[in-house]
Amino acid sequence: MASCVRLLLVWAVFLAGGARAFVDEAVDVIRLSKEIGEEVLNSWDVLGRPFNSSSGVELPFIRRHERRVLARLGQVARAIERLEEKVEQNGAVARLLAGTGRRETRLELRLHELGDLLSRVAAAERQMRDYVRLQRELERSTLQDFAAWCVSHEPRALSGLLERVHALVRPPHQYLLGRGILQLMLEDLEERHPDVCELQLSPHQLIYDMYNTISLAEIKGYAMMQFSWMLLKIYGKGNYTQEASLTRERYVERTARAAAAARRETYAQVTRLLQGYIENEVDMNTEQTCKENCGYYTLAQNHGCFKDMYCARQPTCKGRIINCQYIDSDMTVCPAKKGSTRRYEWIEYENGNRFGQMTSECHRGKNKVDSWWRWLFWHCSYCMCLCDESGPTSDRYFSLWDATSDVKNNKVVTGIRLVKYGRVFHLQISEGTLGERGAVTPGGWVPVQKFDVNDAGVREGQDYHTLSYERRALDLDELDSPRGQILTGVRFSVIGAHLHFEIRSTPFNYTTGRLAPERNQWISNDNTDGSDAPRSRLELYKPDVPTRGPQPLQVDSKHDQYVEFTNSDFEKDAAQSTVPFVDIQPVEPMQGAALISGAGMIHRGARGSGGFVSPKLFTYDHSRHVHADPPPASLQTAEPDSMPMSNF
Ligand SMILES: *[C@@H]1O[C@H](CO)[C@@H](O)[C@H](O)[C@H]1NC(C)=O
Ligand SMILES: *[C@@H]1O[C@H](CO)[C@@H](O)[C@H](O)[C@H]1NC(C)=O
Ligand SMILES: *[C@@H]1O[C@H](CO)[C@@H](O)[C@H](O)[C@H]1NC(C)=O
Repeated sequence: MASCVRLLLVWAVFLAGGARAFVDEAVDVIRLSKEIGEEVLNSWDVLGRPFNSSSGVELPFIRRHERRVLARLGQVARAIERLEEKVEQNGAVARLLAGTGRRETRLELRLHELGDLLSRVAAAERQMRDYVRLQRELERSTLQDFAAWCVSHEPRALSGLLERVHALVRPPHQYLLGRGILQLMLEDLEERHPDVCELQLSPHQLIYDMYNTISLAEIKGYAMMQFSWMLLKIYGKGNYTQEASLTRERYVERTARAAAAARRETYAQVTRLLQGYIENEVDMNTEQTCKENCGYYTLAQNHGCFKDMYCARQPTCKGRIINCQYIDSDMTVCPAKKGSTRRYEWIEYENGNRFGQMTSECHRGKNKVDSWWRWLFWHCSYCMCLCDESGPTSDRYFSLWDATSDVKNNKVVTGIRLVKYGRVFHLQISEGTLGERGAVTPGGWVPVQKFDVNDAGVREGQDYHTLSYERRALDLDELDSPRGQILTGVRFSVIGAHLHFEIRSTPFNYTTGRLAPERNQWISNDNTDGSDAPRSRLELYKPDVPTRGPQPLQVDSKHDQYVEFTNSDFEKDAAQSTVPFVDIQPVEPMQGAALISGAGMIHRGARGSGGFVSPKLFTYDHSRHVHADPPPASLQTAEPDSMPMSNF
């Protein structure tokens, strides 16, 4: 039990320090799967120029190619093995799979089946490794049989096994078979903390480990099938180019789905604060003229829809139109999917510029959008602008209400998170009861008082803050309580045009654990733009949507900075998203049993990513009270416990 508590502690530190701590291993697995994909493609090249496989091939030729392909396969197998050792190090998944069968729940049955399937894939892979090792002594028919088994349609053959593993992760008929195994696990683990403790892991890591284990099986299977097609080709059984490419497609599809199943909602977004918007010059002035150019319209609005051109086919920006620029005269626009907060999936200009990711299909059909000439000398250009339109589709509000613990009943803050209810972001805290000598009994999350900005009596500036082009800065501060005080609340306020973070501290007596609520104080770093040393801005360089890209996102903000919510990069995302995203994962060290002295707002990001903003907590430094734990005789000389000191 002691080690379990320790591990939970480690996890808590991870949570406080980095929500993406466990992505590392998953990234390794993803990288390996990419590398193996490339290795396999290159191995096809080993076979060289197309040869006539139907005419029976010369024996030396077969031997040479066979050896090369098997050597490659050996390399791939070793790479898989190395990562497998890493993933299996903590053995939690193995223990979970081994420990099933006591209860006949749906989850147990699925885990049992999964364990069975994975062990069959593993057995096949072991056999393959043996064959690679012993290739010189083996009959060719042995290898050929094995390769044929790997790619056989028979349900119990390799590809059938992999399909069944995948069906457990993503059931093909969700209504019939219910949720996937990762969801079932998560729900089960969240209900039964003690058993997670037995496994000495957090639910999230367990999900990641499970995901890694399944992905590794996929990679193994994929490599084996690809090399089998190669061998069969060498043995003159057929061409198989098409078959191999189908295997690859199915593999890519399966792994993408499995990754989606392992993911959980860990973030929320401010939406449509500043969004890329195509508008023709002719509709941005009252005279419907085209005498200016795009750059002229730094702050404009829509004044109509001239001759029902492209303007009639897209929702008008009813707010302000900002910072227009000319990219090219003619373009193809892929409108966003229904229900999306984007306007466009992507835009392709005739000069070759591409905005957004042109990977997905264009479900609602492409639009050809061409500028035109008026009387030969006025060009009515389509401009790329930003739209700042607050309205029902734009989530850009932050609650200014205090989130405080029940100090009258001696409760203190033990956790923090950002949540989005409707269109409004709130700070939420969890609280626990403070006892003697820093002991905290965990309580629960304090319910948020939800509201909509349109509710009667709810006022902008009092109850909530609205982000806009001029008012979109969020202060990033890390605030700690003075000595002898403890965290009992957090809130957002507005200072100047900035959304500002504050904490509430309350003095307490360490020995007795009593709070002194009559001496509460709100603390913040009131540095403004007008001061001698104004806060510095955290630059977001060509920010992409932060969930794209494999790079880990580290804390890149410092105390006394601010970040501005802004549009994503034009080229990477057609400026359709608002970044940074908001991390909504709870930060609750020691599952609510830690003594917390401070809190902050931080940014986690990387060059070229919009990153995430998230709250942070500081645990109370118990060493402050080492002196307060003296032998009884020297009680008189002990330092007083709750002497208020100046900030920082
Ligand atoms: C094998 O099939 C592919 C695609 O079907 C084709 O391009 C290639 O020429 C074929 N090779 C031989 C040797 O028939
Ligand atoms: C392959 O070999 C067979 C038999 O020798 C021959 O009939 C056929 O034309 C050859 N095909 C090609 C593409 O060379
Ligand atoms: C804390 O409480 C103890 C026990 O009531 C008391 O003796 C001590 O003086 C208190 N410390 C402070 C700083 O008030």
